[in-house]
Amino acid sequence: MKLFLDTAHLDEIRTMWDIGILDGVTTNPSLVSKEGKKFEDVLREITALGIPSVSAEVVATDAEGMVKEGRRLREIHPSIYVKCPMTSAGLKATKILAGEGTRVNMTLVFSANQALLAAKVGAAYVSPFIGRLDDISEVGMELIEDVVQIYRNYSFPTEVLVASVRHPIHVLEAAKIGADICTMPFAVMEKLVQHPLTDIGLARFLKDWEKVPKG
Ligand code: E4P
Repeated sequence: MKLFLDTAHLDEIRTMWDIGILDGVTTNPSLVSKEGKKFEDVLREITALGIPSVSAEVVATDAEGMVKEGRRLREIHPSIYVKCPMTSAGLKATKILAGEGTRVNMTLVFSANQALLAAKVGAAYVSPFIGRLDDISEVGMELIEDVVQIYRNYSFPTEVLVASVRHPIHVLEAAKIGADICTMPFAVMEKLVQHPLTDIGLARFLKDWEKVPKG
């Protein structure tokens, strides 16, 4: 499973990229708004690190506007995936952009039928938002199970990108189901690394090492 960071914050991206566990980045207008920089500058900084997949969202709500924005975004860098919302206009724009060779990440997906439509118009990624479903007392991970099964049934090439991840158990469950990608906040990715027994074990090894004769 590919691991993406859901952030527009360059230091967070650089940290995980330097460790070597990062496969991509997803941004959205809310995340970009926290950075206090122009959208295009944020995208140029992230892509300059060499990140192979960087999702950037359109803000137009009509198909024509989305296509226009999508074309501009993809010109910024070959690593850019254009995010289109799951609306009728978003589906129409995705079909046009995908037909031109642009890789589209269909976002704001909350049902398996929406995911089916995203695959049919040629989206490269589909982003079901599991945390926001959990927030309204629906089990978000059941949606991932359904989408993975449907895509397998028909051999759709669209990759399932688990989004709106809130904690490490979401990552674990996504991997067990066989989702292609999981995008998560920096704090969640940090927690994947950590285990208290690793810290205790390392401290014990280092202490015992002091007793080994040197020189
Ligand atoms: C990813 O592409 C989405 O923008 C993101 O995961 C949404 O997460 P949130 O529900 O925590 O805002």
